[in-house]
This record gives sequence, C-alpha cells and structure tokens, in this order.
Amino acid sequence: MASIVTLISGRGSNFEAIVKTAQKEGWPVEFTGVIANHSAAKGLDFARSQGIPAFSIEHREHATRESFDAALMMKIDELGADLVVLAGFMRILTPGFIRHFEGRLINIHPALLPAFPGLHTHERALAAGVAEHGASVHFVTEGVDEGPIICQASVSVHPDDTADSLAARVLAAEHQIYPRAVKWFLDGRLRIEGNQVQVQPPESQLIKL
Ligand code: GRF
Repeated sequence: MASIVTLISGRGSNFEAIVKTAQKEGWPVEFTGVIANHSAAKGLDFARSQGIPAFSIEHREHATRESFDAALMMKIDELGADLVVLAGFMRILTPGFIRHFEGRLINIHPALLPAFPGLHTHERALAAGVAEHGASVHFVTEGVDEGPIICQASVSVHPDDTADSLAARVLAAEHQIYPRAVKWFLDGRLRIEGNQVQVQPPESQLIKL
C-alpha cells in the first residue's frame, strides 16, 4: 500500500481534504505521518483525531536550514514515503532535501503559476487586476514555486473581492484539485516530460470553478 507523509505549518485544510477524499473513495493508501514545523499547527489535531501519527520538528530549534531539513528528511524516511505532500508548509526547502525526494514531492500554491509565485498571492492578484486567479499543484524543484504543474483550478475574481474573500474561493478550489492530483500520482498516471506533466490516460489538468 502506498504511503503518504504530509508536511504542514498551519490549519491543514488541504491535508484534511486529501484524507477525507481518500476515506470516501477508499484509496489504497496509508497516511504514515504528518509533520509540522511547530507544535501549534492546528492540522496536527485533525491528524490525531484520525489516528494519523502527528509530529512536530521545531524549525526554531535548528541553527541552520540544512540542519532542520536533515532532521525532516530523516523523519520522513523513517516513516516511509512514496509521496511527500506539502500542504501549506511555509518553509523554503534546501536543494539537498528537494533532490532527495525529487519526483515524489508535490506542493500546492495559491495562484495560477507561473503568475504570482511566492507570498501574498491574493493581494497581488487583486493589485494586478486579473480577471482569473486560482491554485496550482506542482512537483517541487529547486526554484521556488517553479516545478512542473500537475493540475490547476481557476476562479473568477469579483469586482468587490477582498484578499480574504478571494482566498476563500481559491481555498475551496485547492480542496478540489489537491486530492485529484494526489490520486493521479498514486495511480501512476503522471509522466514528467521536461517541465510538463502529462496525465495518462489524458484528463483535463485545468478545472474552472
Ligand atoms: C493554502 O492556501 C496553500 O495553498 C498555501 O497555504 C495555505 C494552506 O492552507 N500554501 P491549509 O493549511 O491547507 O489550510
């Protein structure tokens, strides 16, 4: 059975969406652990409520990024991970960590990449006056928010949107595409060709909500 380790920093609603979809659809998968970079991350409570092993590795207790990532890597390997899911994990990962998990490390970003990599995507989308915004699930490579895109969801920007109202609409879209992308991975349907991901057999990699 495939195993998934999830990394979170906060409320973990994407993690929750993936676990609930897996339960509902009966995926042959084991969530072998959730790791947060601080013990106050709310998502750890959900994990515990589901009997999923929950851990925190305090990034503040590590003097360097390399030392934190080495501890994280060791824990993930100990848990055994066919797939590592970054779900609102707010730490930049070192190249060594990324190389170690290359091809089985995925992330969700709250924007239609390559637009708006980095932070404060909803504010920046509003400031730019875009008509469409959204979210992207992608393989993680060394460039921040640059890896091959697996799946995207787009939502309309409304004239009266605030960053919060837009974030809520995008989050609902995230909860639809992240479980879908994880399932594609587990089913062995993803082929990475250069910077592109093909889904086999083909299925739309963009959903409009
Ligand atoms: C999501 O918007 C995700 O795209 C971003 O951080 C947020 C995490 O939310 N990277 P949650 O912890 O999954 O609820």
